[in-house]
Amino acid sequence: MITGGGGFIGSHLARYLYQQGHFVRVADVKFDGYIQEKHYNEKLTLDLRNWENCLKATENIDKVYNLAANMGGIGFITTVGAEVMHDNTLINTYMLEASRQNKVKRFLFSSSACVYPTYRQTDPNVTGLKEEDAYPADPDNFYGWEKLYTEKMCQAYQRDHNMDIRTLRYHNIYGPEGTYKGGREKSPAALCRKVAEALNPGEITIWGDGKQTRSYCYIDDAVKATIKLMESNYNKPINIGSDRLVTIDELADIIIKTSGKTITKKYDPTAPQGVRGRNADLTLVKKILDWEPQTTLEQGLEKTYKWIETKVIEERELTQTYAQRI
Ligand SMILES: NC(=O)c1ccc[n+]([C@@H]2O[C@H](COP(=O)([O-])OP(=O)(O)OC[C@H]3O[C@@H](n4cnc5c(N)ncnc54)[C@H](O)[C@@H]3O)[C@@H](O)[C@H]2O)c1
Repeated sequence: MITGGGGFIGSHLARYLYQQGHFVRVADVKFDGYIQEKHYNEKLTLDLRNWENCLKATENIDKVYNLAANMGGIGFITTVGAEVMHDNTLINTYMLEASRQNKVKRFLFSSSACVYPTYRQTDPNVTGLKEEDAYPADPDNFYGWEKLYTEKMCQAYQRDHNMDIRTLRYHNIYGPEGTYKGGREKSPAALCRKVAEALNPGEITIWGDGKQTRSYCYIDDAVKATIKLMESNYNKPINIGSDRLVTIDELADIIIKTSGKTITKKYDPTAPQGVRGRNADLTLVKKILDWEPQTTLEQGLEKTYKWIETKVIEERELTQTYAQRI
């Protein structure tokens, strides 16, 4: 059972498990994602901020991958606080309790690198974040605080109700068939879209000064790690990401090179850019899950760019056809 099964990671995870022959139920408030082929046995359109719906979603289920969240890229989570905390607290509280009441055997919670404190992420040349670095707590945004609170709630359910819980902290997962427009997209998808939409020669705008750093993990690698964690015996929070640190400028340059276009970069210092630097330390995940990302950033961005470019071209052609008709 995958909540958020209509979203980016959830639909990729569902497809992988479904293709492996597992029974897959997906639940989401909407299914407007980009994966076309059937990737589930059962699809439930449910608002999981509602208790009864969470009970319905977890009925007769062994394993819950709880991925549903009201979230988006840095622009969205910097601007929206109350709604994110309200919705995600309800989803996670009800999903956890419904899973307990329905005697779910194992529950996985998707936390985030956003739980890590601001004071460890002030320098672009940042040291990779280890799991224990989350405390003393001081996440950069409300979204991160909610994730950290839910991690603690999972710990409490583990202790008091003996629930079997897995908690992972995703660090910037990217890839094709994810949000690339509309305001909730993250930096790799946003930059791919900007480059795909640009003329050749053309220009794109980068948020911030381009010197802020991040690390990025390709979706197929993240899906494999997620399943490995679910199947493992490890029940504390663990990083899933990449430890290759790049500046946003470097990220843009790889995408521009992939596109084959000649693009000039402009900067918008007033746009949200989040913490100055963030990288994942993968020591624990390598040891516990014998996992590390296999896809290079260049390979992953090439697949992502190609997919987004196709979508941008399709949309342009649709707009032209519509304009010709009226
Ligand atoms: N993508 C990343 O880089 C990343 C990084 C850190 C953590 N995460 C976490 O991983 C999970 C999946 O992220 P994603 O990138 O696939 O995001 P996504 O936005 O594509 O998927 C989340 C899904 O949750 C659904 N949802 C929201 N509110 C709901 C509600 N009330 N009821 C039912 N469904 C609801 C959305 O419709 C969406 O399909 C989230 O919990 C997110 O916080 C993702």
